[in-house]
Amino acid sequence: MTARIIDGKAIAAELRTRVADEVARVKREHALTPGLAVVLVGHDPASEVYVRSKHTQTQAAGMASFEHKLPEDVSQADLLALIARLNRDPLVHGILVQLPLPKSLHTETIINAIDPAKDVDGLHPNNAGRLAGGLAALSPCTPLGCIILTKSVHASLEGMNAIVIGRSNLVGRPLVQLLLNENATVTIAHSRSRDLAKLCAQADLVYAAVGRPEMVRGDWIKPGATVIDVGINRIPVPGGKPKLVGDVAFQEALNVAGAITPVPGGVGQMTVACLLVNTLRAACAIAGLPAPAV
Ligand code: GUN
Repeated sequence: MTARIIDGKAIAAELRTRVADEVARVKREHALTPGLAVVLVGHDPASEVYVRSKHTQTQAAGMASFEHKLPEDVSQADLLALIARLNRDPLVHGILVQLPLPKSLHTETIINAIDPAKDVDGLHPNNAGRLAGGLAALSPCTPLGCIILTKSVHASLEGMNAIVIGRSNLVGRPLVQLLLNENATVTIAHSRSRDLAKLCAQADLVYAAVGRPEMVRGDWIKPGATVIDVGINRIPVPGGKPKLVGDVAFQEALNVAGAITPVPGGVGQMTVACLLVNTLRAACAIAGLPAPAV
């Protein structure tokens, strides 16, 4: 049996269309144009690609996009001043500071300076804590995308065994909370977990978010399981362009899993689409409007 390949590209495109429709509605009915500010420090090539894609897709959805590109050696005080300005700006409803930041900047201090109501990355401790407490919160975009992709396969995740491999603030930890909200039974695994293969073998849902190329092997996977691969690893190819691979050995897993996301074309596509969702939600909440229907 060959697994169904979950088409992240198509699912993300459909979500972007729904966001664009809702944006058109809030513009028409409430004269509200949701606005997203993205802050990029330095010239990390992968970050530059992501930021360009965020800018294009934000505009395509009918929202306002504000890009702030700062030099690698910007001072912490100057970056904090920019964030304070964006917090006050009534045209800005979402603020995203692209990570990783240069080592000279203290990431935690920067994230903590963002107004939690505009924290479309869901990284501010207010939002992370609210999510962990089962309260309404802006949640990180990649885990939101993972849930939407899973639900394209399973209408309900109730009672399913899920394993999340990876415990980062951006993906693993918030994904665990979102899965709990869906009534899944969640195992949290990571680089120090003992016998990952055995843990994986019990899971109906496998989320690989460790950043290690092809670490999860085909024979770890329970036959018929749904595999969501969050990894985006660039593997050098002698004399050629680097190759993108996930955290799962895709060809091996394809013969065992029931459904699997490809890399590229899986989770990556969903992250920006969910950022647009969060920006729309933040704009409606700040304006005192009901939550949008996306
Ligand atoms: N770098 C890679 N992914 C992300 C993300 O989702 N948000 C931010 N801020 N930086 C990232």
